[in-house]
Amino acid sequence: MSRHASEERRWWQAAVIYQVYPRSFADGDGDGVGDLAGLLARLPYIASLGVDGIWVTPFQPSPQVDQGYDVSDYCGVDPLFGTMQQFDDLLAAAHALGLRILLDVVPNHCSSEHPLFRAAVAAGPGSLERELFHFEDGPDGDTPPNNWQSVFGGRAWSRADPSSETDLQWYLHLFSPQQPDWNWRNPAVGDYFEGVLRFWFDKGVDGLRVDVAHALVKAEGLPDAASTTTVTDGLRSNAQVSDQEEVHEVYRRWRRVAASYSPERVLVGEVNLEPARAARYTRHDELHQAFAYAFVKLRWDAEAWAAVGTDLEVGRREHGAPPTWALENHDVVRSATRFGGGERGALRARAGLLAILGLPGGAYIYQGQELTLPEVDVPLEARVDPMWTRGGVSRDGARVPLPWTVAPDNAFGFSPSGAAEPWLPAPAEWGSRSVEAHQQDGGSTLHLVIAALELRKQLFEKEVLQPDDGGTWRVEDGGLLVCERNDQFLVAVAMGEGSVRLPAGDVVVSSSPLTAEGLLPPDAAAWVLRG
Ligand code: GLC
Repeated sequence: MSRHASEERRWWQAAVIYQVYPRSFADGDGDGVGDLAGLLARLPYIASLGVDGIWVTPFQPSPQVDQGYDVSDYCGVDPLFGTMQQFDDLLAAAHALGLRILLDVVPNHCSSEHPLFRAAVAAGPGSLERELFHFEDGPDGDTPPNNWQSVFGGRAWSRADPSSETDLQWYLHLFSPQQPDWNWRNPAVGDYFEGVLRFWFDKGVDGLRVDVAHALVKAEGLPDAASTTTVTDGLRSNAQVSDQEEVHEVYRRWRRVAASYSPERVLVGEVNLEPARAARYTRHDELHQAFAYAFVKLRWDAEAWAAVGTDLEVGRREHGAPPTWALENHDVVRSATRFGGGERGALRARAGLLAILGLPGGAYIYQGQELTLPEVDVPLEARVDPMWTRGGVSRDGARVPLPWTVAPDNAFGFSPSGAAEPWLPAPAEWGSRSVEAHQQDGGSTLHLVIAALELRKQLFEKEVLQPDDGGTWRVEDGGLLVCERNDQFLVAVAMGEGSVRLPAGDVVVSSSPLTAEGLLPPDAAAWVLRG
């Protein structure tokens, strides 16, 4: 195989993917909710960043209880977002622009409106239909089968038919009651999802992001969890609820399906486990990538970054799968706010983004991260996240529609003129953070991202960077975080209070200008080429 062909087969190892949350990206039809038409119209913007592709979160038919993560038809397009023809057009347009498209697949649970769940409820206890889900008897109609808690708060069980005196069964939902969990110990579920994968792969979709990838298979017999807090804290491997050995068989099968296509389709998992456990999902015959989830949760702390970075090396060393970096997604507090808020938070978010674009492996940018958007304090009455209503934690603040224009008209350019109010209100200062404002300012984060991605491409072409580089992490005096990628290139981040001297070499890009003495100022990152 030629070098080019083998690189083409492993494009994902070093890919930078832009995450699109379609409800909040661009509204094409004027109903106040972003959609496929809006995304199609704005694709050139994404291509202009220099990313390799996009990951689009769910737009399939759904009652939208969990903003699309409650899927009632895995192979369709919700009219809220458009039509299948529009999706086909989007796919063709993306490919014409050189962008790959990854979609979200949600295999842990579906919507309670999914026809197979409706049929299971109707078919009653003991039916084959109910075996597709986790229907169980409790000790009585008031006590659920075990002590598991929902990630969104409250118990993880609801009665199939609360009004029935004869049907006293409960069904499992790790998330909201409108999201019943599939029973992955039933082979029919595996067959069903193979069909879903093939449907999108046959269309030419380049890959799938696997929602809650670690939780599909539950412990045999559904025993009580040792502690109800670990049920909701995904980062700890939970012996009863998630991270079961059998789940790896699911991904071996999916990898075979992905590899049967040319070019090979890619699977990236949302594996919310500690790095050593998460790495096991990227063994050579399983998922291609797993998000560095431990990283997504980090604060501005050099020791913590170095520790997690070192832990994440396990996947590359043991299984040949480099880390997949992300600092943000639609579920976590925006990094500008997480890193301290205000001016400093914004500087740090910008530095953090430049850093991950230089680290060995792939990277994901969440829409708006290139604008250093902060978390929005969405007014209480406007919050819609089910995690807020059930558990008191709102993810709405990271999901506010993207500002496109400086002027506030049409929700800062998110919607066409005459449109309905956007589904989440934007703060008054949104215009100063808009795409247009960034485009007009040569020193903006948007321009930094474009320059960094161009440089990244050149460094790969010159073979200074390699897809399978490792990462050696350390913290130097003054809080300088250093990740040495190879003997020619390192990433440094000034995480202490003062300016710091960089290791010897040429600074090829930095998130803030160096001081007159050539030091890296606090809250800044740099890429250093060593002689
Ligand atoms: C994942 C999604 C999140 C969703 C949850 C349940 O964590 O990213 O948005 O609420 O799964 O599907």
